[in-house]
Amino acid sequence: MVVDISLGQAKLDWARNHMPIHKALARRFEGARPFAGLTVAVSSHLEAKTGVLIETLAKAGGQVVFTASVAATAQHDVAAALNTQPGIEGFIATEADAATQSSLRDKVIARQPNLVIDDGAEIALQLVRRPSEIPNGFIGVCEQTTSGVQRLRALDRLGQLKFPVLAVNDSYMKREFDNVHGTGESVLTNLLLVTNRLLAGRCLVVAGFGYCGEGIAQRAKAWGARVSVTEVDPRKAVRAHVQGFDVVPMREAVSDADFILTATGMPDVLRREHFLEMADGAVLGNVGHFSNEINLDDLRDLAIDQRDVRPGIREYKLHNGHCINVVADAELVNLASPVAMGHPIEIMDITMAMLFLSALYMVEHRQSIRAAVHAVPEEVDHQVAEIELSALGVVIDGLTAKQRGYSSS
Ligand code: NAI
Repeated sequence: MVVDISLGQAKLDWARNHMPIHKALARRFEGARPFAGLTVAVSSHLEAKTGVLIETLAKAGGQVVFTASVAATAQHDVAAALNTQPGIEGFIATEADAATQSSLRDKVIARQPNLVIDDGAEIALQLVRRPSEIPNGFIGVCEQTTSGVQRLRALDRLGQLKFPVLAVNDSYMKREFDNVHGTGESVLTNLLLVTNRLLAGRCLVVAGFGYCGEGIAQRAKAWGARVSVTEVDPRKAVRAHVQGFDVVPMREAVSDADFILTATGMPDVLRREHFLEMADGAVLGNVGHFSNEINLDDLRDLAIDQRDVRPGIREYKLHNGHCINVVADAELVNLASPVAMGHPIEIMDITMAMLFLSALYMVEHRQSIRAAVHAVPEEVDHQVAEIELSALGVVIDGLTAKQRGYSSS
């Protein structure tokens, strides 16, 4: 593969120029260097906004070692550009198989990181499976996404977590903006770019009305789509209903759908019984962290023929003559398709700042945080919100002394 380092550098420059929170963090911490003497591992979607977080950690004194959390979303030009910078070293590969990805994470762990910024808990899981490899002086893990937090909470319940974790995904400033607005906007823009299809007037089904699903459904409705929602949680189903969405079982939803997006964090949301009922030409995309939301084994098994019909779209022809199109082999539709750039930069400025300041919080409180999954303290959320408001030039009111007294009485 030919890698254009200058293109990677240009992508980093463009992202950095639209990340005012990171500019403020770099200014604030370049002198103090709070990560000096520490190695920080970053395992995330390896693209330009993650690259800017890596740069900011290095500017704040950290020795940064990175790898890609999902091979299909890694941008090799960005990785190559990062690798030219002092204090930064990364390992990524074009092979997406589990053994290669695990060996890259081994290389990261061999650098003895003090902190891990994880996406999907991949490095954390490797440390849980092989506790003898937990580095000396290990401080803990900041987890970026819903599926990663779910894995780590399960390990915590089983008593298998040997280090502290901050559930950065669950913080207000991360989940309310990244999962809702970032996913809503980037999934639709990338889906339409990769298909070159019209959304207005078409039927779009969203599986899962959580943070991501709600963001997608709201935007798709605003763009003129007829939107249906599938759910398994009755509370979320009511929430979707009162927002005006049709709530239906997947078996019913698929027969009329032009586009079906899975955003559940669960395997097999689309499976054999659904493929058999789908309309001819249906386009399927996965939003969740793991590609197993769409059971491609079932689809391959049912297919009498398959071919690439456009870059990033594979068509499966079934016995009934219907063709089903899958975007990016069911990897994250907004990050893995050939034209995908992930969330808007301004949203990831907030997410990456939450990860940076959560990591800093762990460093500053390393003596007192016990091994468990913890919420990110509200003070971190507030700090990021305040820097964002100041970058936007937005001024807000404060409580009067009387109001403060009232709220604490
Ligand atoms: P969430 O927990 O808020 O929402 C998931 C929803 O799916 C829940 O309401 C749940 O009841 C529902 N659900 C579970 N099983 C279902 C099934 N079989 N059928 C229909 N609904 C079902 O989680 P969130 O934050 O919305 O994240 C969803 C997934 O997206 C996770 O894997 C997360 O890691 C990933 N994610 C992806 C992003 C991207 O850029 N593509 C960004 C942020 C999160």
